Formats: sequence, structure tokens, C-alpha cells
Amino acid sequence: MKSPAYGKPKACVIGWPVAHSRSPLIHRFWLERLKIEGSYELAAVAPAGFPAFVQGLARQGFAGANVTFPHKQEAFDLCDVWTTTAACLKAVNTLWIEAGKLCGDNTDAAGFACALDQDAPGWDIDARKAVVIGAGGAARAIVYALKLRGMKRIFLINRTKVRALELASEFGASIEAVDFPGLPGALPGANLLVNTTSLGMRGQPPLAIDLAPLPPDAVVADIVYVPLETALMRAATTRGLRAVSGIGMLLHQAVPGFERWFGVKPCVTPELRGLVEADIAAAV
Ligand code: ATR
Repeated sequence: MKSPAYGKPKACVIGWPVAHSRSPLIHRFWLERLKIEGSYELAAVAPAGFPAFVQGLARQGFAGANVTFPHKQEAFDLCDVWTTTAACLKAVNTLWIEAGKLCGDNTDAAGFACALDQDAPGWDIDARKAVVIGAGGAARAIVYALKLRGMKRIFLINRTKVRALELASEFGASIEAVDFPGLPGALPGANLLVNTTSLGMRGQPPLAIDLAPLPPDAVVADIVYVPLETALMRAATTRGLRAVSGIGMLLHQAVPGFERWFGVKPCVTPELRGLVEADIAAAV
């Protein structure tokens, strides 16, 4: 176990705002089930106070922290050591302290792949072609995960095409940037479609796509989890396709941090999922 400077191990999620975060629910569930005497807190920290807060983590008794909006790039800049994934993505969502050094990982990529493994088993057996909508930080993590799993071709579709072009150029020749009018032409033969934008989130317009050109074995994944079922997921289910909600990514991205801070690898169980789903449903 990575012991904090003193007392029971504790961790937190740092964001601004952060009150909506489900991370405390997830980590406290694991602490209780695994009978670990530790704690997990919410840390609402404005951008101006973020460097000082992070540099004082160990002094405040924290073994580490999750980092969420808007701090992921700043967290990357503040680290002394990065995992290979964090170094590639230039964004950090998980911090811990090792031998006095601030270390950072980005667990969004692995979280996405693990969620698909659990909710759409076999999705990467014949990883021919994926269509990814969006070109922000989430898209970057997902493209990284797809490349790692051997996806042969990735089409990136973004409202602002120049961002898709930039992301595509970072990841090499197997990635192609397309604008929205080109979307229907990208769908035939794709065995995975992923929404990485906030479209479909509560309060946002839906992502309205005609899924007819997708092959019948395609998987449709959404990173949105509020609401639990987006219009995109409903459309996929109606077409008989496998639909994967963003809740799996939310749960699986939490696993590596918990393991580093508290020393035990936790499981994403149906009970945990049900708990988080109930919390989201109650808030909608
Ligand atoms: P994140 O780190 O969560 O990915 P981000 O970096 O702000 O957040 O990226 C948000 C993504 O959602 C972008 O691809 C954005 O498209 P633009 O690059 O054109 O801004 C996309 N997005 C957000 N709102 C959108 C909308 N109303 N229509 C289409 N795309 C939208």
C-alpha cells in the first residue's frame, strides 16, 4: 500500500466544480466492501489554487487524487513522473506520490477499453474500423486505447475539422479526419462507433445519427452517462446493435487509482454499477 505521510490512507477528487462527481460514491463503496480504513473526499479547487493544492497533497495526508475538469492538463504539467499513457495523452486524471515524486497516469484510455471488454465482449477480435465522434481530450484517450487494441482504421469526425486533423496527425496514418457531412460515408464496415462529445448529455442536444449504414455486428459506445441511456444508445438498441453506455468507462477508470492509493485492486461489480446508476437516475 502506498502509505500517506501519516494516518489512514486518504484520497480525493479535485475539480472545479466537483460536487456532481460520482468518484466518492465509487471509492467509498470499494473502501467499505474491502474493509479498508481509508477515506475519499471531494476537493473543490479553483484553477488558481490547483498547483498549491497538488503540491501540498502529501503534506495534507493524501496518498493521491483523481483529477477532473478543468485540471487534467495542469496536472500533467505539475507531475515529476508520468506513465507512458499520460505522457502520450498529455493529460493526467490520477495522481499519487512515490518516493517524494508526484506521479501521474491517465486511466481514461484503459477505462474505456475495459468497459467495452465487460459490456461488449469480443469487440476487438476483428478490430477493422472505428468511427470516433469528437476531437477533444476524451477522443484523444479513446483513439489511444483503440490503437493499443489494434484498431486498423479510425475515422475522426468533429464539428471543428481542424481539431480532428490535428489529432489525426498525432496518431499517424491509420487515422483519418472527416467532417460531419462525411459521416454516413464512414459508417459502412465500421465495427465500432463512439461518441466522445457532450452531445446527448442532459441539457445538450442529442447526437442524431442514422445508424442504418453500420454493419449488424457493430458496437455503439457513448461516453455520456447522464442520462444512463442516450438517444444514440436507444437508436443503436432499436437497430439491434450492442450499445455501451459511458458508465462503464466511469467505473473502470477509477480502478487503477484505488489500487495505487489503497493497495488492493477493486472490481467493477453489478452491485457497484447498480448503486451508481441509481444515483444518476435519482438526479435526472
Ligand atoms: P473533453 O475533454 O471532454 O473531450 P473537449 O476537449 O472540450 O472536452 O472536447 C469536446 C468535444 O465535443 C469536441 O470535439 C467538441 O467539438 P469542437 O472541437 O468542434 O468544439 C465536441 N462538441 C461539444 N459540443 C458540441 C456540439 N454542440 N456539437 C458538436 N460537437 C460538440
